[in-house]
Amino acid sequence: MSENVGVKLLAVKGMNDVLPPDSAKWAAIERCARAVFHAHGYRELRTPIVEYTPLFVRSIGEATDVVEKEMYTFTDRGDRMITLRPEGTASAVRALLEHGELARDPVVRWYYAGPMFRHERAQRGRYRQFYQLGVEAFGVGEPTIDAEQIAMLVEIFTSLGIGGLETLVNSVGGAEDRPRYRAALVAHLEPRRDALCPDCQRRLGTNPLRVLDCKSPSCQTQVADAPSILDHLGDAARAHLDGVRAGLNALGVAHRVEPRLVRGLDYYTGTTFEVRVTGGDLGAQNTLGAGGRYDALVAELGGPATPAIGFAFGMERVALTMPAPATEFEPKLDVYLAAHGAAARLACLGAARELRAAGLVAEMEHRAVSLKAQFKRADRLGARAVVVIGDTELAEGVIVLRDMQAGTQERVPRAELVAATQQLRERV
Ligand code: HAM
Repeated sequence: MSENVGVKLLAVKGMNDVLPPDSAKWAAIERCARAVFHAHGYRELRTPIVEYTPLFVRSIGEATDVVEKEMYTFTDRGDRMITLRPEGTASAVRALLEHGELARDPVVRWYYAGPMFRHERAQRGRYRQFYQLGVEAFGVGEPTIDAEQIAMLVEIFTSLGIGGLETLVNSVGGAEDRPRYRAALVAHLEPRRDALCPDCQRRLGTNPLRVLDCKSPSCQTQVADAPSILDHLGDAARAHLDGVRAGLNALGVAHRVEPRLVRGLDYYTGTTFEVRVTGGDLGAQNTLGAGGRYDALVAELGGPATPAIGFAFGMERVALTMPAPATEFEPKLDVYLAAHGAAARLACLGAARELRAAGLVAEMEHRAVSLKAQFKRADRLGARAVVVIGDTELAEGVIVLRDMQAGTQERVPRAELVAATQQLRERV
């Protein structure tokens, strides 16, 4: 470690501190999402940030970008391969099975919030540590829950004041449809192999559906007239997609079917969806939230056949898109307590506690600085009122209460401190 002495200490690339006032905006977004989750009967799941690596390899899929090149994987001191979670679904399924939750209740609805880690190319809206909020529902195969989850995502973004939303839905088909579509797609792309980017030339053999959402312009040209997955869906998958759309229409959620919407995680079966924001400056990172069905995953990880669906959204992208300034979410300082002298400072301790117990936001000055400096600070903090206590006030059993908006002040009996300050706060 000694060679690092003198090197400037910085956060790890692609991982960010969240300072005030942005942290207040994050808290507001999280409060809003939790309220929507609770209103829909979802309960909170908290899982560890690391898991044994095979969990992610088996759930997300070996031939995905996440597993191939983005996971933070290392051996721990016991020589076990562990990975910083790149997403939350795999851990939710692991926890579901590990704790036998389905035996207690055939329908389990969970939500989670926390940091995820992917070693991606860091840019605006794409980070190596990012914060997701997501839901997972197990045991319900009916398309109405798909519609309800999509509507939840839209409701969260809309209540945060985000406009210009676009909701895209698709079906990637079930296990019986996918091979047929995969074959048709490979037949279309194979003769154009040379025009694909090197990544997609490889994907053609491992995971050809991923070519559909490659951002490279030459790949986009090659898939422009590719066969549509919608033409390869069996009756069950088609009926399910129709059911999702009927649900969305019943809920008044405007949406568009996007047959090229394939997602980067291999566990999806049937419904996939994304909510994007149009306009803004997020570029290719304009997908705020996304999800879909993964009806085969619980069984693949050793559980009983259990339909499942979920979504997650990225806190950073939502915070960047939400129009309200972060300062709006910070608590307003109701009262600043200025002390003149050591005895007065002790008296301020109790006075501040009384004010807080009455629900006011109160901050006292602990440093022995001049009253002038204290007023300056109160002003800078935007305090609604200042309470001044000095030796004279202590002796007389009063306090000085200053209205910072009106620029007036009055002497108030100490016993009326809370009532008078509250009254002042209510004044416009
Ligand atoms: P995902 O599409 O990989 O899905 O991620 C969901 C959301 O997380 C994205 O739409 C985006 O807002 C955010 N996100 C992903 N990667 C980054 C990044 N590097 N930087 C910033 N934000 C990012 C999942 O993770 C699935 N587990 C969702 C799901 C739940 N499907 C079923 N259940």
